[in-house]
Amino acid sequence: MKDATFFIIVYAWIAVALLIFPVVLRVIAPYGRHTTRKWGAMIDNHTGWILMELPALLVFAGFYLFGSGNRPLVTWVFFALWIFHYLNRTLIFPFRLRTKGKKMPLAIVFMAIGFNFVNGFINGYYFGNLATAEQYPNSYFADPRFISGLAIFFAGMFINWQSDHILIHLRKPGENSYAIPWKGLFRYISCPNHFGEIVEWSGFALMTWCSPALAFAIWTLVNLMPRALHHHQWYRSTFPDYPVNRKAVIPFVI
Ligand SMILES: NC(=O)c1ccc[n+]([C@@H]2O[C@H](COP(=O)([O-])OP(=O)(O)OC[C@H]3O[C@@H](n4cnc5c(N)ncnc54)[C@H](OP(=O)(O)O)[C@@H]3O)[C@@H](O)[C@H]2O)c1
Repeated sequence: MKDATFFIIVYAWIAVALLIFPVVLRVIAPYGRHTTRKWGAMIDNHTGWILMELPALLVFAGFYLFGSGNRPLVTWVFFALWIFHYLNRTLIFPFRLRTKGKKMPLAIVFMAIGFNFVNGFINGYYFGNLATAEQYPNSYFADPRFISGLAIFFAGMFINWQSDHILIHLRKPGENSYAIPWKGLFRYISCPNHFGEIVEWSGFALMTWCSPALAFAIWTLVNLMPRALHHHQWYRSTFPDYPVNRKAVIPFVI
């Protein structure tokens, strides 16, 4: 593929994210607490999660490992961080969920497969084929973008994992009910798991300083900001005693 073609795909992908943002703000994604049968055929929740996330792991790894570039050492760190995140999301997280008997629409699974395929492709292809040693010399490990981006990435990952852990343990095995979470960053926002994920991939975009990672950070924001706002509205209408000062996704702001 010509470099110009690749970057047209990346910028078009960013444009699509920005265009659909107003739509995603209005249409509630029908999985988890918002699941509805109106979206057609359903699939087991755990299977759905594995299928949805698998392309982000395999497509990224395939395009990176079988790329024709010289893959500077720094890009192996990017590779390791991506794989670390997606090993958890694809092969560990779905088995920890306490969603016995729950289903999600197949349409959501197909949309997420497409989303993860494109993001896995643009990032894996870029690091495996186009990233150069001039762009990422070993001295890049001391670059402020790398150091601060890495710190932000891990801070986001910690918040995301901690918050998912708190949510999962609100239920005993076999339960499917909802409760108000109180621990960790839930003191300030309704969806710190989504906040953490947004922070994490913003850190990745900063440390890699490239358009494919920026595209993924923007898509993460476009996906998760509306989902957090919808969760927040749901909490408020479901629990009359829901804390009034708690924001949706950014502490003290939104
Ligand atoms: N990068 C991206 O674009 C992207 C996109 C989507 C998701 N993600 C990540 O994937 C993870 C899951 O996302 P999600 O939107 O499905 O999270 P979620 O709606 O907060 O649900 C997470 C898990 O906790 C359970 N849960 C949530 N709130 C609960 C409560 N108040 N009481 C009891 N159980 C509760 C849910 O059960 P139910 O399923 O029964 O509601 C689900 O099993 C997050 O870490 C998110 O950041 C990333």
